[in-house]
Amino acid sequence: MTTENPTPATPGGEKKKIIFSGIQPTGTFTLGNYLGALKNWVQLQEDYNALYCVVDLHSLTIRQEPKELRENTLSALALLLAVGIDPNKSIPFIQSHVHTHAELCWVLDCYIPYGELGRMTQFKDKSAVHADNINAGLFNYPALMAADILLYGADLVPVGADQKQHLELSRNTAIRFNNVHGNVFTVPEPYISKDVGKVMSLQTPTKKMSKSDSNPKSYISILDKPETIVKKFKSAVTDSETEIVYREGKDGVNNLLTIYAAVTGQSIGQAEQAFAGKGYGDFKLAVGEAVAEHLRPMQEQYAKIFADKAYLTEIYKQGAERALTISKRTMQKVYKKVGLVV
Ligand code: TYM
Repeated sequence: MTTENPTPATPGGEKKKIIFSGIQPTGTFTLGNYLGALKNWVQLQEDYNALYCVVDLHSLTIRQEPKELRENTLSALALLLAVGIDPNKSIPFIQSHVHTHAELCWVLDCYIPYGELGRMTQFKDKSAVHADNINAGLFNYPALMAADILLYGADLVPVGADQKQHLELSRNTAIRFNNVHGNVFTVPEPYISKDVGKVMSLQTPTKKMSKSDSNPKSYISILDKPETIVKKFKSAVTDSETEIVYREGKDGVNNLLTIYAAVTGQSIGQAEQAFAGKGYGDFKLAVGEAVAEHLRPMQEQYAKIFADKAYLTEIYKQGAERALTISKRTMQKVYKKVGLVV
């Protein structure tokens, strides 16, 4: 537990719990990012003090084209606002604007065993894909993520299932530090959607949908045009059976039913019923149309917000200021505990 909660109390007197989450600005977000994480972010901001971060420093672990990264970072911020993150309810900001993230990362680096970082599956996977650039930042990536979370005393971290191991490392780090220095950090809990913790690739439904996939037919970008969305769903890989039911081994159909249920607000059972007796062709078309329809208002909002650079600048400046005020208090406490002159 943190001894000092930097967030305001609710009118009822009890403290609102704190949420932190982040997303990398490495390209337009996918339907996986949206259903696995962002959709929950929007809902959770109603009941929590939420901080949502565009983690541009994390993106540097893979070589980036500087001009593209700058553009993608602003685009990512605009997308967060377009999907419904409300700056009056939460704090959206850009990670590199708040210097405490890199500072706490260094301190935590000195509290995380080398072996623990080496066990991270994302490090192993990314090292395999980027064999020519296995840099120290890629190895340290989870330490920066732990810093992001622990700086704000986050109680809950809404992420997709692929981030569970990193969350576990953040928890271990908080506990290890607290064991040495007393109760400094809140030990965060992951919040992973039971229904859509992992949206799968449309082409290889045993693999996670990812924007870094070399085949664009395997993922839906949330800014894809409606006709592109429908086309991608029409070519989604299913199986050689005919029944539209959620069953072990039917990875492609399970994924499509999950996506359909998530965007229409139905249960999987209701979605199965809606397609009883129908063929795979009709099914894929209906899922594509439902997704296109669900994303349409966000795409319209995005176009407006991204065009308004003055508004975006105001949002990220305000976000950075608020995030810095909160995180500086943690940083001071940490520096004092570890013996620095403050
Ligand atoms: P990133 O940018 O890869 O993804 C952002 C969020 O989207 C989720 N996600 C998915 N969920 C379900 N199905 C999918 N196919 C899918 N693809 C992505 C991710 O789980 C994530 O929640 N390391 C993080 C960013 C980060 C962070 C943090 C998150 C940095 N600091 C602190 C939480 C707290 C990442 O690379 O996410």
